[in-house]
Parts: sequence; structure tokens; C-alpha cells
Amino acid sequence: MSKDKPIGIFDSGVGGTSIWKEIHHLLPLEHTIYLADSFNAPYGEKSSEEIVRLSIKNTEKLLEMGAKIIVVACNTATTNAITHLRTSYNIPFIGIEPAIKPAALQTRAKCIGILATKGTLSSNLFARASDLYSKDNKIVEVVGKGLVEKIEQGQKDARVVHDMLTELLEPMIQAGIDYLVLGCSHYPYLIPTLKKILPPHVQIIDSGMAVAKQTRVVLQSLDLLTSEKQQIPEFFTNGDPKILAEIIPAPLNSFKVNYLDF
Ligand code: DGL
Repeated sequence: MSKDKPIGIFDSGVGGTSIWKEIHHLLPLEHTIYLADSFNAPYGEKSSEEIVRLSIKNTEKLLEMGAKIIVVACNTATTNAITHLRTSYNIPFIGIEPAIKPAALQTRAKCIGILATKGTLSSNLFARASDLYSKDNKIVEVVGKGLVEKIEQGQKDARVVHDMLTELLEPMIQAGIDYLVLGCSHYPYLIPTLKKILPPHVQIIDSGMAVAKQTRVVLQSLDLLTSEKQQIPEFFTNGDPKILAEIIPAPLNSFKVNYLDF
């Protein structure tokens, strides 16, 4: 495998760009290819079998494009499909899971909130992590129903999202959380709104930086880190390229976003 090949990244839609941003920041020499399966979003309400099928489809496309490693920038796809992907393909996979561990180790209130999709919260992988840390802590799990759809429509800052979050966070605030774990790669885009609703002492944790660091560790261990600047990042979506282009934060939003039927 050549070091100059791209890092392939996929998500059910535009949200995984929050992970892409961290990877691009940490590994600026690397060529990255981002696939947004927005046509099939949200994954969170689909069956585990369907999520595995879509994850295979995205993996095949990234392999066709020459990926040397695949980052599953979606908690729902990771918790439902990564075991299958790792046993089916001879390529390293990096996944993203809700960061329960750092929250559980740091909470003083012994009470943490997890906001994630139904698909993530109902997965076996998540249940194992949650069981491990719920012995010493109260864990308040809430399904972020409807949030991914709104972000996919380009409405992350809309008033209606503020109202939805106010209702969703209510049980967590009532329970007295001091940490909120964002268990979906779309949700970092809601942080400005979340901060308006949560009591100021509540810390928000997402897994973006941890995923980027893990990607670097794995590439390094396999001697697959590039040493020369590769071509600029590429973005592909089977949804609306405008919405994907608009969510990528400045000053990184000058890269071209292409429509691709996959
Ligand atoms: N970004 C995906 C995740 O991290 C969203 C899932 C969905 O499409 O419902 O879970």
C-alpha cells in the first residue's frame, strides 16, 4: 500500500465533516476523500442490517477511490457495522464512538448525559461501554430525534432546532449532569445552540480530536503516513453539494464539493 494514497472518510451525511476537520488539522499533508451518504440519511432510525449494507456500499466506493485507511465518521455506522467491516476487508478502519470514558472519569456530579441516535444507543457496542461506566455514574441517554434531519436540511441554526434541543435536554438538566457527550458526528455543529440552553458549568465532549489522533497512531504504526504534501481534499455527496459546502467551517470551505451517485 502506498503512503500517498488518500484517507477515506464516510458518514451518513454532512456531520462527519466535524471529524474530517480534525483529521485535516492534525494531518495536513494527507490527501482526504470525504463521502457524504446524505441520500440515505438519517442512518439512526434504520435497522442494523441496513446500516451494515450502507456501510459496505460506502467502503467499496472509498476502496475504488484508492483509500489506504477508512475512517467511519459516524457513531451509528461504527457501533452497528465496524466489526463486520473489519472482518470483511483487509484495510485498517477507524471508528467513532460516544466519549463516555473521559466524561465518566471527570464528572464530579456523577451524572452524565449522552445525546446520540437511536441506532447508536440501541447497539451492543454502546451497551457494553454504557454498562461499564454506569456502575459509578448515572447516565442519562437521550435520542436526538429529528436533529440529523434538520442539519441535513441546512437548518442547524434554526429556531426550531433550539426548541427541539430545549425539550431533549430537559431530562438531563433535571438529573443534574455536568458532562454532555455528543454521540453523533452531526452534533458538534449544534454546540453554539447547546451552550445557550445548558447551565454554564456543563462541559460538552465530542470525539473528533480523539479520532484524528487514533488515525495518526494507526497510520504511523503501519508506516503509512505520507511525508509529502498530497493533493487538496475532495468531497463527494449523493445529496445537495451546496449544503455540504456550507457546513464546512471557514477557512476550510474553499474546497470543491462534487455530486456523486453512489
Ligand atoms: N453522523 C451520524 C452519527 O454519528 C448520524 C447518524 C444518522 O444519520 O442518523 O451517528
